[in-house]
Amino acid sequence: MSHASRLHVNSPTKTAPRLPPGPRGLPLLGSIHELSQDHLECFSAHVRDYGDTVLMLFGPLRFVLVNRPEDIRHVLVKNHKNYPKSPTYEPLSLVLGKGLVTSEGALWKRQRKLMQPAFHRQRLVEFAETMVECTREHLDGWDRRGLVTADATDAADGAPVVDIHEEMMRLTFRVVGKTLFSVDLAGDSREFGDALTVATDFVSRRTESVLKLPTWLPTPANQRFRRARAALDQVVTRMIAERRAAPEGHADLMDMLMRATDETGTERMNDEQLRDEVMTLVAAGHETTSNALTWTLMLLGRHPAVERTLHAELTRALGGRAPTFADLGALQYTEQVLHESMRLYPPVWMFERVALADDQLGAQAYDIPAGTIVGVCTWTLHRRPALWPNPEAFDPERFTPERVAARPRYAYVPFAAGPRTCIGNAFAMMEAKLLLASIVQRYRLELVPGQTITPDPGITLRPKGAVKMRLIRRDAP
Ligand code: HEM
Repeated sequence: MSHASRLHVNSPTKTAPRLPPGPRGLPLLGSIHELSQDHLECFSAHVRDYGDTVLMLFGPLRFVLVNRPEDIRHVLVKNHKNYPKSPTYEPLSLVLGKGLVTSEGALWKRQRKLMQPAFHRQRLVEFAETMVECTREHLDGWDRRGLVTADATDAADGAPVVDIHEEMMRLTFRVVGKTLFSVDLAGDSREFGDALTVATDFVSRRTESVLKLPTWLPTPANQRFRRARAALDQVVTRMIAERRAAPEGHADLMDMLMRATDETGTERMNDEQLRDEVMTLVAAGHETTSNALTWTLMLLGRHPAVERTLHAELTRALGGRAPTFADLGALQYTEQVLHESMRLYPPVWMFERVALADDQLGAQAYDIPAGTIVGVCTWTLHRRPALWPNPEAFDPERFTPERVAARPRYAYVPFAAGPRTCIGNAFAMMEAKLLLASIVQRYRLELVPGQTITPDPGITLRPKGAVKMRLIRRDAP
């Protein structure tokens, strides 16, 4: 335990709340200065110094990090009614409106019910082929663009290099475009991707900034954001209008969302709600999966023995043909690799709730006064030594069914848990497995030596800058 000062632990009276320990920070400002520092390092240090329930003050905001599976279950599942999404999500609604990620209460409940069937396992079968086809086209593009080294012996200096982070962003964007609205977002609608990047970067900065200037002020950043949001709106509104005019003949998510009705079979989404949900699915669905794949390919580059085991499974299960939905069950090690990668680099590294009424959390039953923001940091949870021995080591064997069964259920929550769990969980796992299998089956990826790759915790956990890799074609199996 650190010698650093503790907050309000020695209650002067019986009625004063017994708050969790944490860094005192500066008078009035608390730990605000930490917002401009490395968040992952700060949170990891606090958990090390103060334990698994840490209180931080950010100006007037009281923030408690919970890092014990029991508390995560309490907040997300058992007592979830007391923990709606926190106000820190408000900047996101500037882009996503009142879609599933940002809505609350009766609207969220209605929408979740309407949309759940579109993500049903049976429905996913229809998307598997599209995902594999998108990937094949994208990889053919690598061949055409001369990005592939034909022979392992050539894979030295001078052989072509790709930024695998950028490539995975493009590929998953393509998949979301095709599965959601049957259009090629990476090609024809490139401006949509650029606008989405501007808008999400703006939201990411706004989420972290304490002083939030109104978006109508004509600052250059606000103007850029408003232009980007208008471009996004225009594309989505046009697509909805085209669909309303000619609704037949599409087997995509948009079609499912348009046809979705409530239990009485009468109520459907209006155009505005549909716009918000479509934007939400594009935003929530592509960068997360892209990050998962980028980190996985980086880790495989660092761990050739794991890569060989993975490739052996693909050869055994697929024998060189393209993967299909029916193969997913046989790709057990592929799934373990993805889980271990999302343990170390969870694409959503933090999610937050707010306590409506006073509550208690932590092994010491600390008081959590109403209005406290409660954060689950998957980065620190997934590295907690008591749950994950030798936590920094990349070891897919941690995710064999036996070892999963032996761990507390809420020790690993990359998709959150409880009623607000990721609706795209099965979609994302299927996509990640099919894409990873297609890539590793065809190429061996080598990391360009000498680069430092660091995670950048914005809304999602992406790498800071490029992840440079060389693609080496495998001999046909
Ligand atoms: C590896 C990929 C993914 C990861 C790690 C991930 C993670 C998460 C997490 C942690 C949440 C909860 C956020 C919170 O409570 O604040 C969430 C919610 C959500 N995700 Fe995902 N996600 C992924 C892929 C996807 C995909 C592919 C889609 C859609 C196609 C999607 C759609 C959503 C939606 C709509 C929500 C809000 C659900 C609700 O509140 O009812 N996600 N995701």
